[in-house]
Amino acid sequence: MTRHIISVNDLTAKQILKLFTLVDSDITFPLPFSNPILATLFFEPSTRTRLSFESAMLKYGGKVISASDLATTSIEKGESLKDTIRIVSDSYANIIAIRHKVKGAVAEVAQYSSVPIINAGDGTGEHPTQCFGDLYVLWKRFGTLKDVRVLLCGDLEYSRAAHSLKLGLKHMGAIPIEYQYYYPLGGPIPEYNYIDAIYITRQQSERHTSPYPIVDYNHHMQAIVNQPFAKDALIMSPLPRAGEISEQLDQDPRAVYFEQAKAGVPIRKALLAYLLGAITL
Ligand code: CP
Repeated sequence: MTRHIISVNDLTAKQILKLFTLVDSDITFPLPFSNPILATLFFEPSTRTRLSFESAMLKYGGKVISASDLATTSIEKGESLKDTIRIVSDSYANIIAIRHKVKGAVAEVAQYSSVPIINAGDGTGEHPTQCFGDLYVLWKRFGTLKDVRVLLCGDLEYSRAAHSLKLGLKHMGAIPIEYQYYYPLGGPIPEYNYIDAIYITRQQSERHTSPYPIVDYNHHMQAIVNQPFAKDALIMSPLPRAGEISEQLDQDPRAVYFEQAKAGVPIRKALLAYLLGAITL
């Protein structure tokens, strides 16, 4: 049966820990056949996810074919995403990473694919490969994920990275705590005992369908990271940032968001190896 990664829950906690151990050992896995081809079909903007997937495949000596704009595909002429996947999986590529603006769209078309499909973000749904990188950074820092307390902040309702991280943290025995200070407007900052990491998400303006309250995101973020409970907390973000994290914070030793982006390549490299059958998890 063809394996897909649509949700964080497509890997067990044990498999996720094995993935991290393999990434940590920095081993290069020989892929089971030469010149594998990755298709990146990104029907929403991306920098980190698409380019790190492509970099990961190129590091294996594989090749990449890409469509990054719906308007340049035959979907613009009325072709369905289902048919697009049938065509690409039948003979063009050995594995496909898809980003789509509709929640559930990637899961729906995966059933028509003869090669592994990776959900690279589906609307407000999930972003599992971002989550594996986020969990990896936490695991590296704390040596475990068990009982690690992560405060998820920001536009949580619309953030797929936050949705996947919440699922992933629960999956690994960690403790997600949610504080949605952007929408609807939150009250005073609750007093937490201690927090191991703060995960900041930007306002997901592109997903808002109704007028949105004006909020000073940077003010909220500063207020959170200056709380006594956050004194030693990692400051995380899936990025991109859109005003909520000032560049001054980059010098703060707690800030690990560039580390998260960097983890994207080895994590996706190991996931490609797993889905192509080079390693077991
Ligand atoms: N974190 C993330 O998904 O970034 P991109 O949208 O740039 O891929």
